Amino acid sequence: MKVDELFGVKGQVAIVTGAASGLGLAMAEGMAQNGATVLMIDIDPKTLEAAAAPLRAAGCKVETASLDVADTAALRGAIDTMAARHGKLDTVFANAGMSSGPGYGLKAGKTAGLLENVSPDTWERVLQVNLTAVLETMRAAVAHMKPRRSGRIVVTASIAGIRAETICGYAYVATKAAVINIVRQAAVELAPHNVLVNAIAPGVFLTNIAGGKLKTDAAVREEFLGLIPMGRIADANEIQGLALFLASPASSYLTGQVIAIDGGITAA
Ligand SMILES: NC(=O)c1ccc[n+]([C@@H]2O[C@H](COP(=O)([O-])OP(=O)(O)OC[C@H]3O[C@@H](n4cnc5c(N)ncnc54)[C@H](O)[C@@H]3O)[C@@H](O)[C@H]2O)c1
Repeated sequence: MKVDELFGVKGQVAIVTGAASGLGLAMAEGMAQNGATVLMIDIDPKTLEAAAAPLRAAGCKVETASLDVADTAALRGAIDTMAARHGKLDTVFANAGMSSGPGYGLKAGKTAGLLENVSPDTWERVLQVNLTAVLETMRAAVAHMKPRRSGRIVVTASIAGIRAETICGYAYVATKAAVINIVRQAAVELAPHNVLVNAIAPGVFLTNIAGGKLKTDAAVREEFLGLIPMGRIADANEIQGLALFLASPASSYLTGQVIAIDGGITAA
């Protein structure tokens, strides 16, 4: 197979949650610029439309839905409508996620991340967005994939779900670990149906997560930099190769895996 076909996503119908910014935007751009029809879902309508406009202007097939992924009915409605409109659903990136504030190991975070300071409200909200909504995205997607015996589900986890990561908060590390095992469990269930389920575990990428602190707070940036053997924070677009690979024919025998993309952090 030629490279274009092997790694191609042309003609796919795809959905990306959290697509207005950061890694989700990079995934949506990568898919749309390579010929997929992409539904971009995000909670922030203004940023979402601003992100979609240049893609549309460039001739890409992108659609938008502004909703909170924690609103299961709205999420399911958007996924079902997209699949019905195009007659199929090839790839879903369950990517939307949020920080739960600094962990106790982040010097710049002071004591907010200590176990005794975990806020029950933050805990609940982060569980809804980072965990329940990922499950619901997968549940909605699979209904359209199983009958066709074809589909890819890619969950954005984190290296903070693989090992202790003390600069991230408790709810964040808990939800990222949890989605990794949902991915494994679903991968085994869905393997006979040819629906492949994998997780991307990013290290440190320059995005707007946690209010964009990596961009605006030099002390926070330095602490994260200290973790990275490659000595630099990744650009959001550096997620595109792995994301497209997991959506393409090139990964046709790959399921149930958690792929770290972290400049060497988890190897150190
Ligand atoms: N940036 C990193 O270093 C890093 C590392 C590991 C994992 N991740 C994960 O990557 C994913 C994307 O984060 P990012 O870093 O690109 O951050 P980001 O803040 O730049 O982008 C996240 C997008 O998701 C949207 N979103 C947040 N909550 C939502 C909700 N309830 N409903 C719908 N949309 C919602 C936001 O509006 C935003 O556009 C998250 O799951 C995050 O945990 C990021």
